[in-house]
Amino acid sequence: MINEAFLNDPYPAYHALRAEGALHWSPEFCGGAWLLTGHADVASVLRDPRFSVRRAGGWANSSGPGALAELREFKRIFSRSLLFVDAPQHSRLRQVMNAGFKPAALQELGPQIQIIVDRLLDRVLAKAADSGSGQFVEFDFMRDFARPLPALVIASMLGIAAEDRSEFVAWSDDIAAFIGSPTPTLEIARAAQVSLIAMNEYFRQLLPQRRAALGDDLMSQLIRAEAQGGIITTKELLAQCCTLLFAGHETTRNLLGNGILALLQHPQQWQALQSTPSLLPSALKELLRFDSPVQYTGRRLKVDVEMHGQLMKKGDLVIPLIGSANRDPAKFTDPDRLDIARNQGAHLSFGYGPHVCIGATLTYLEAEIAMRSVMRRLPQLQLAGDSQSWGGNAVYRSLNQLSLKFARPSAAVQATLAEAQYA
Ligand code: HEM
Repeated sequence: MINEAFLNDPYPAYHALRAEGALHWSPEFCGGAWLLTGHADVASVLRDPRFSVRRAGGWANSSGPGALAELREFKRIFSRSLLFVDAPQHSRLRQVMNAGFKPAALQELGPQIQIIVDRLLDRVLAKAADSGSGQFVEFDFMRDFARPLPALVIASMLGIAAEDRSEFVAWSDDIAAFIGSPTPTLEIARAAQVSLIAMNEYFRQLLPQRRAALGDDLMSQLIRAEAQGGIITTKELLAQCCTLLFAGHETTRNLLGNGILALLQHPQQWQALQSTPSLLPSALKELLRFDSPVQYTGRRLKVDVEMHGQLMKKGDLVIPLIGSANRDPAKFTDPDRLDIARNQGAHLSFGYGPHVCIGATLTYLEAEIAMRSVMRRLPQLQLAGDSQSWGGNAVYRSLNQLSLKFARPSAAVQATLAEAQYA
């Protein structure tokens, strides 16, 4: 199932799978897994406590014999992440983390996100001055905007140095390459472990300094919970910081990239959004449904479960295909049509049930500020070519590169931007 054609466009494969049935056994997928294709089934499994999220060991196994022993550190760190623990441990960690995602905390983050967005766009616009004199200026939307933005926002949320951003992105990419591969090699697995250890060490070294001067950032809030009678242990605290750094930008950058691509490939929708920016919240929901940044997740069965006449055994891996659920015609009329005014049911791009994405509201806030600013500041934005380069990852649907062009700003605007950049 996972080949280049699938990575470029997984939706025909999902339609074919759904047409053949709601549940499939795949011997190749992660060393053997049940694939769930329909919206109702994916939602129901994601909220069913018989399906455990504890699967860090299973990934290690899928890298070949002996990998589990070698990947002990990866398993040890991630098995404390709220993404990979069940209740009651999960409920305790989630409550601690919720503090950083309350509306009031996010409201304060809004102006900081706007500053980060403005700086990145200033840089894109300032480059126009150094890039010839044609009517349009070309740039790589992923490299110059979508990739750095979420990493900078997470850094700001955790109160860590923005200068270390390139390391965060490289570490996260290694981890995503492992988690995102249905058939990871030992080499990919080892690289993920090295990066996760580096990330964990980064936060460990920050601890003494942060404990001495607590602030309003999320890391300080976790430290306060650690101090309050051990609501969270130090090792758990470090695992949550790594989870946030990883989960927060491996996903949001792809909403921005996939979203802008989909809009520019559908000029009528793009024009409708530009003329009616109040459609932005509903457009973001539709973009998340149409090309979900996270294509699937995984669960491991705690007990035998029968579904659609098939017996799934205790210990089996189950893959709820979010990307397929979001294009299920039983849930969405004409699911392959992008309709930014669609107001029909809930997409499952943020998951569902107890592990539903803790960063969903932050994502909407960040994406709304980003898209609004892009529309306002990059006039006549359009694709600079026909072909896009998709990353080789089955979970994180991700563009390596997205060449766009916009109308060159006037000389006066360019001069002001160049000055602002060097101020
Ligand atoms: C487009 C953006 C995003 C998408 C599509 C996305 C998707 C998801 C999905 C599908 C899950 C559930 C996984 C499962 O049930 O196995 C999840 C959980 C999670 N997400 Fe996101 N996410 C996004 C942005 C963010 C951001 C910005 C953050 C943090 C700053 C974040 C942090 C988390 C965390 C910590 C969890 C685990 C929650 C739990 O297990 O209780 N995500 N996300």
